[in-house]
Amino acid sequence: MDKIKVLLIEKTSDDKQIVTDTLAKVDYIDLVGEVTTTEEANYYIGEKYPNVVILGTSLDFDRHEFTEYLAKEYPEIAVVLVENQLLEDTMYKAIFVGAKDVIISPFTSSKLVDSIYRSYELVKDKDVIHRDTGSTRRRKSLNGNVVTVFSTKGGVGKTFVSTNLAIALSKEKDKRVCLVDLDLDFGNTVLALNLVPRFTIMDIVDDIRNIDQDIIESYLIPHESGIKVLPANAKPQINEFITAEHIEIILKALRGAFDYVIVDMPARFYEPVNPAFQFADVLLMITTPEISTLRNIKASILTLQELNFPKNKIKVVLNRADSSSQIKNKDVESTLGQSLYSVIDADYKLAVLSLNSGTPIVISKPRSSVSRGFTALAKKISKDFEGNGHS
Ligand SMILES: Nc1ncnc2c1ncn2[C@@H]1O[C@H](COP(=O)(O)OP(=O)(O)OP(=O)(O)O)[C@@H](O)[C@H]1O
Ligand SMILES: [Mg+2]
Repeated sequence: MDKIKVLLIEKTSDDKQIVTDTLAKVDYIDLVGEVTTTEEANYYIGEKYPNVVILGTSLDFDRHEFTEYLAKEYPEIAVVLVENQLLEDTMYKAIFVGAKDVIISPFTSSKLVDSIYRSYELVKDKDVIHRDTGSTRRRKSLNGNVVTVFSTKGGVGKTFVSTNLAIALSKEKDKRVCLVDLDLDFGNTVLALNLVPRFTIMDIVDDIRNIDQDIIESYLIPHESGIKVLPANAKPQINEFITAEHIEIILKALRGAFDYVIVDMPARFYEPVNPAFQFADVLLMITTPEISTLRNIKASILTLQELNFPKNKIKVVLNRADSSSQIKNKDVESTLGQSLYSVIDADYKLAVLSLNSGTPIVISKPRSSVSRGFTALAKKISKDFEGNGHS
């Protein structure tokens, strides 16, 4: 394990003595500096990259202001504030400005080590993120296309289409493709792709003030196909903290980093995910050949028009198409009043196999008619949307 690097900012000797004595005895913690001013602190941070900064009680500057500055500029550093007494107000204020822990002076060695260790645990993944990004920084902004995959009908294949299409698009001239699961409460792209999510959208929301087109990539989960995935959170109850502002920042950052951003949507209109409509270059409206679905889709196309969503961006994809179905393609077109942009055949056997193995059909059965449908859809999208001021 790498040593935890600690910077101490403090003037009085009592606390200082405990810190130096204690840390001299702990071999997995390194005291990289002892300073008394913000200028010195900034210098040490730039030179020594501490993981934890301890802010003592006897300092001549506004400690909360400096904590807030550190939390914003260096989210990979944990600030531990030392306080003279334990008051609810002090704790609240410390956490509000972004401190990771508060310890009360005078403190024992074990309390100090415990606090350093726990605070470091809270930021250590961010350290990897912000360090990793250093080398890949300042990639040219791509201004990619946002493809929003939507339907107000559940279970019609939004996730099936978005995962397979994302991979098919990435094969088109080696495009950089990212898949975002905005089905915040029930998202299952990780299952469809057999991924273990190290980060989810919630980690990005926690770090939202630092998110840009470079940083965001470190939060994405790479899939073997080459696409990058932003999974939904597995605990839906915390999604109430995700707002449309967050999603807007996330989509803008992703658009800057990828040629295509494919968005898998929930089966309803829902305020926080509005930016996925606002930023869509194309809205793939997924339908299946059943009367109830077609009625539902027709109503949601009307709703989109009432919301002033540009009609020419709505492209209907008929999924689970079956030549033996009573409802023919032309019936779908006449019911919805628009021609079909793409048709994906039904193949229940392959769909079940693909779901069970977590391998999308375009990978496991590239020559199947379903995969050919996705390749054709990918080609059509790249033909229609590249060179349109995007990509
Ligand atoms: N072309 C197809 N042929 C056969 N089965 C399909 C096809 N497309 C999707 N399915 C199956 O239909 C089911 C629903 O698909 P999927 O989860 O992609 O729908 P969804 O619209 O994302 O659902 P939700 O609204 O719950 O998010 C899955 O079991 C999937 O494997
Ligand atoms: Mg889905």
